[in-house]
Amino acid sequence: MVQPEAIDNPRAAWPEIIQGGMGVGVSGWRLARAVSLQGQLGVVSGTATESTLIRKLQDGDPGGDLRRSMARFPIAGVADDVLARYFLPEGRAPGQPYALLPLARQASSPRRQRLTMLSTFVEIDLAKEGHDGRVGMNLLAKIQLPTLPALYGAMLAGVDAIVMGAGIPREIPGVLDAMAEHRACSIKFEVEGLTDGRVEHLSFDPMVHWEGVTPPALRRPAFFAIIASNTLAIMLAKKSTGRVDGFVIEGPTAGGHNAPPRGEARFNLRGEPQYGARDAVDLAKIRDLGLPFWLAGGMGHPEGLARARAEGAAGIQVGTLFAFCDESGMTEPIRRSILRCARTGELDVRTDGQASPTGYPFKVVTWPEDPGASVTRDRVCDLGYLRVAYAKPDGTIGYRCPGEPVDQYVAKGGRVEDTVGKRCLCNELTSAIGFGQVRDGGVVDPPIVTSGDDLLEIDRFLGDRDHYTAADVIAYLQGAAAVTAAEPSWQAPAHAPTREASAPAPR
Ligand SMILES: Cc1cc2nc3c(=O)[nH]c(=O)nc-3n(C[C@H](O)[C@H](O)[C@H](O)COP(=O)(O)O)c2cc1C
Repeated sequence: MVQPEAIDNPRAAWPEIIQGGMGVGVSGWRLARAVSLQGQLGVVSGTATESTLIRKLQDGDPGGDLRRSMARFPIAGVADDVLARYFLPEGRAPGQPYALLPLARQASSPRRQRLTMLSTFVEIDLAKEGHDGRVGMNLLAKIQLPTLPALYGAMLAGVDAIVMGAGIPREIPGVLDAMAEHRACSIKFEVEGLTDGRVEHLSFDPMVHWEGVTPPALRRPAFFAIIASNTLAIMLAKKSTGRVDGFVIEGPTAGGHNAPPRGEARFNLRGEPQYGARDAVDLAKIRDLGLPFWLAGGMGHPEGLARARAEGAAGIQVGTLFAFCDESGMTEPIRRSILRCARTGELDVRTDGQASPTGYPFKVVTWPEDPGASVTRDRVCDLGYLRVAYAKPDGTIGYRCPGEPVDQYVAKGGRVEDTVGKRCLCNELTSAIGFGQVRDGGVVDPPIVTSGDDLLEIDRFLGDRDHYTAADVIAYLQGAAAVTAAEPSWQAPAHAPTREASAPAPR
């Protein structure tokens, strides 16, 4: 159960189950709250929250949850400003596209920063409403532009843990220390092609927003890094700018992005990247760091928890089972249809080495009832979270995404081969949670669904049910605590590396 002392004491017990952060909006406040109410760590996704907040407001905020929380945002005038610009009490007219934000850049306006803060504040605030369970927020290190205001907004709502992967979040622990004291902070901004030792930064000064008002006291949340290699864990434990409180060690069967395999690229007959012994994490070395850790990726079954415990882990991080539960942000028709097809074995989970503009392998679900299968989407980059910054010949900074129109990407110096097979994860993931953009002719962007390999075996958990709750998942995971780790009945899927003694890899 809840142990507030753990927040300032990284060695105190944390829950044994972390519900993995799932963007865009799959792990929203409803799911994180449901998990937190069960005494486990619910984690909201902090990805693209400004865009999803303004889309929900444009759809009228049915039920008023967002507006109730926005009214609690402590910086004066912000909620009113955002409501005045985006809230449509009657929702959008049929076929009306969502209003968009300008694409983010290195220097963001105070107004844009406040919207980002508000959006993560609302997610954490609603997830924590009415109980004292703990709630975390997940961010991807690769998506840098909104990171600092997103963290501060979550801290204003009392976020208990930041869980961060998909990159090397070495500077974030120090940022959390600074923000807890409302000090200005910055992180290095990754810009491709910078020369002559030039370094760029992203900066954020909380006090700019308070305008003479004394800000509330803030707690520094715990920081958990998602890693897939011993080297990265050791580096982060020793060389981060502040305290790292634990690790999530994620293997290549996990949903979402996976870390690429090490060494020479090898593919199976389905074109999926192949992982091998070099990708396994040596848990003895992780144990030596003396920090709590959770195993993730294909651990969503009672034996997974038992095995993790036997390995000295604090527990497991699970995504897939939660992604398809009633409180998930994924639309109900998509969830139900996927569960139906999973039960009849008509569905596939593929590790796609090309789909994600990040270049990381990304798990994609294909199923016969996919409503997006018949939709061809013209390339357009108007959410832009996965754009990377690059130095232009004149020294200024430009932004490009291999998922944008090919001619535009190439005109910005991108390589045409990098555009092949790319999907627009920003728009297509947003569509999977029911807020897809409307294009010419009223066609809504197709959804893309990601899941871990555990989906292929979900009938074992489902039984006769055609839907289930987050509490059902937790009861299932904990139910077999007495099962011995030495005799697991679960086997790794045939195309995944076995994760015996030294266990999981990736992210
Ligand atoms: C739908 C979905 C979206 C995900 N999105 C993210 C994400 O935005 N950031 C992240 O760090 N991990 C993400 N993940 C990974 C989960 O947080 C979790 O680590 C993983 O799902 C655990 O493995 P499992 O899927 O086998 O349970 C996602 C997973 C799923 C299924």
